[in-house]
Amino acid sequence: MHILSAAQKSFFHENGYLVLEGFSTVADCQLLMRVAASWVEKLNPEREKAVFSTKNQGSTTQDYFLESGDKVRIFMEEEKAENGQSQVNKLGHALHQLDPIFKGFSHQKTTAIAKDLGMKEPVPIQSMFIFKSPKVGGEVNVHQDATFLYTEPVSVMGFWHALQDATLENGCLWALPGGHKLGLKSRFVRDGENGVRMDILDETPLPEAGFIPLEVPAGTLVLLHGLLPHYSDVNRSKKPRQAFTLHVIDDVTHYPENNWLKRSKSETFSHSNSETHLPNPS
Ligand code: FE2
Repeated sequence: MHILSAAQKSFFHENGYLVLEGFSTVADCQLLMRVAASWVEKLNPEREKAVFSTKNQGSTTQDYFLESGDKVRIFMEEEKAENGQSQVNKLGHALHQLDPIFKGFSHQKTTAIAKDLGMKEPVPIQSMFIFKSPKVGGEVNVHQDATFLYTEPVSVMGFWHALQDATLENGCLWALPGGHKLGLKSRFVRDGENGVRMDILDETPLPEAGFIPLEVPAGTLVLLHGLLPHYSDVNRSKKPRQAFTLHVIDDVTHYPENNWLKRSKSETFSHSNSETHLPNPS
């Protein structure tokens, strides 16, 4: 199965990203949001230990984060809502393995797209359901996904699914067209038994200018090259901006032991023949 046209492939290779509107149906988006909400309910008791920050991974939350690679865990916003209630930042990092709906979601199309873009044996390695709640949905600083999911050679590709409209107001993605050609700047690695550290590979900072907003309607898939610098702003609007993001690597590459995320034996993507069709939610 081939999904991408020659023009789409060359756009991705030139710019490091590709926007595919209408990839998922409204019903699929609504179903994924409902399933995520049920996980939040189930994980409610874990809330207090799960404040997530991209700026400061404090030691109290570090173990909870570092052990989440093959689990579904709940991470909370630093900022509370106006009514004082804490808000969910995200679920991570193995919904694609542990939840049947997320496991089945679009995996044949995802494999086909990854192969269209040059991957030999795509395997899903990590996923996140991002809530980006109204008023408090936190920013995600400029980064390259390969910093966190590194292979030799670099192969990670992000499949970012907008489940609700993503706009300037509610914190859409921003990307630096062509920025994937700048090389990898840093790696987030395990440091001894329990810690992590950031290794700087290239002191030259990423450019601050040139980023463009990717405002997209619900149902859009945004593909992100693993070296593409991208970020998203705080959501100060009244509308949420929920998204599901799946990261895929090429199984023919080397996955170093010191990546923060330990690989799980249950990655089955490339060897599975059946697509799980999402049930009709009505
Ligand atoms: Fe990212």
